[in-house]
Amino acid sequence: MPDRAQALRQYRRRAAGYDRGFSSRAVARVRRRALERLELTRGAVVLDVACGTGVNFAGIQRAVGPGGRLVGVDLSPEMLEVARARVETSGWRDVELLQSAVEEADLPAADAALFSYTHDVLRSPKAVQRVLDAVRPGARVVAAGLKAMPWGGPVNTVLRRIARSYVTTFDGFDEPWDRLTARLSDVRVEAMMLGSAYVVSGHAGVDPVDADPPGVKATSTASEAARPPGIRPS
Ligand SMILES: C[S@@+](CC[C@H](N)C(=O)[O-])C[C@H]1O[C@@H](n2cnc3c(N)ncnc32)[C@H](O)[C@@H]1O
Repeated sequence: MPDRAQALRQYRRRAAGYDRGFSSRAVARVRRRALERLELTRGAVVLDVACGTGVNFAGIQRAVGPGGRLVGVDLSPEMLEVARARVETSGWRDVELLQSAVEEADLPAADAALFSYTHDVLRSPKAVQRVLDAVRPGARVVAAGLKAMPWGGPVNTVLRRIARSYVTTFDGFDEPWDRLTARLSDVRVEAMMLGSAYVVSGHAGVDPVDADPPGVKATSTASEAARPPGIRPS
């Protein structure tokens, strides 16, 4: 299970350098893809789950426009401090930042929810439930992040070493999204970065029974054909 006290300590140390540490072109591509999959429209209300320093805010703001609303929730006061500075510098108006564990947060009825590089939250059944209870029926839900590579081996040891600074559990590292997608319909799973990253998307507001794997569609970008284990093509 994720360890919130450990996460607080990790991000207290990492907040100041977080944006630099997470600025590779590959990660930026995954972020862009996740935003595309959110299919945001002007005026939408968007929930950025465990928003951290707000790296995704600019893309969300561009998509929803001045009539939209962005709510970011995060456990770490230090990460949110960076997010707050970003909002002020950019002059965005309708952005609300909630300092809280997702599990206990008072979340808005959003049109879309993004889980970006937030493995711990995806592995917390209570946090996933909280978000899916809050969003509107039919809301777009997207998750993206790092995962174990399908063929495993030494590469995964390196991956884990990198990820260790940002997660407190490796539970479900093969399919970090499974607790979320069990509650979504129209699920699509996309592998990126040779299978070491993923973007999953779907719609909220369906009975878990209806959301079973027959609706799961797996894709991968042309040069990144590695399909994560357990994903069935439609
Ligand atoms: C790797 S950062 C991701 C930040 C941002 N979403 C991004 O894409 O860069 C993970 C974030 O999850 C937050 N976090 C971890 N557990 C959480 C929880 N239970 N509730 C809220 N935030 C949590 C951490 O404080 C941290 O800011």
